[in-house]
Amino acid sequence: MPNPAVTGTAPIRVTQAALEKVIRDAGMIGMKYFNNRKNVAINKKSARDFVTEADVAIEAFLKETLTREYPEYGFWGEETGQSADQTSRWIVDPIDGTHSFAKGQYGWSISIALEIGGEIVLGAVYAPVLNDLYIAEKGKGAFKNGERTYVSDEAVLGDAMISTGFACLRNYLAENNLERFCRIAQRTTGQRRFCSAALDLCMVADGQVDAFWEQELNLYDVAAGALIALEAGGSLTDFKGNPGLFPKQILATNGKLLDQILPLM
Ligand code: IPD
Ligand code: CA
Ligand code: CA
Repeated sequence: MPNPAVTGTAPIRVTQAALEKVIRDAGMIGMKYFNNRKNVAINKKSARDFVTEADVAIEAFLKETLTREYPEYGFWGEETGQSADQTSRWIVDPIDGTHSFAKGQYGWSISIALEIGGEIVLGAVYAPVLNDLYIAEKGKGAFKNGERTYVSDEAVLGDAMISTGFACLRNYLAENNLERFCRIAQRTTGQRRFCSAALDLCMVADGQVDAFWEQELNLYDVAAGALIALEAGGSLTDFKGNPGLFPKQILATNGKLLDQILPLM
């Protein structure tokens, strides 16, 4: 097991405390827009995909701050794309759950991950309205608001609480997750469609839900949340059970339910 702070050739200079400060500062920018959202400009990127001036402002802040403080890493943000070195890079979703943000709901988050040589080594997800901050460093466990957090113990799918999401592209997808949802809903107790894939993964890490899956996501939606769920003791696979981070088919469970839910995927 490599030392979590040393990957590839260079130790990472970023501390969890430093990342927490940056993401909380970004959260304050988000809350300023959120509390004034009636005047926030909202644009459509496609039929069901939104971007607000808050998404743009938060990403601009994160890009400026992270590239100034850590010039050795490149940057990939949902709204501005990829810049500089992409072998060691920040992967950022300024607002995950923009539709929820625009509607005045609480279920949106800011997601920041650090990827070194293809490996996610550090990740933070912050839900400003809930003031819940999740963070994990590879090999060091997962934390929620400073407390160690773990996946649930639920071992019976019939008693489980699951969550999922429906990609905004679903009109164009032959296989759009609705039939899968119906199959699994009939075999579980609780079903939730929250609003932010990053937060959904953290809720698995925190035992609030026992499994989450979604398809047609991007790495910036899930990079940080996936590390947090793994470091909390969860399983991370595609819909066939292959271990790893697959944004187009992500399934995170508490580990105990994986073999029961896979046949239904
Ligand atoms: C969205 C959220 C949502 C998921 C969508 C994503 P965005 O991210 O993660 O939960 O269902 O597919 O696009 O667009 O609000 O950053
Ligand atoms: Ca997103
Ligand atoms: Ca986003």
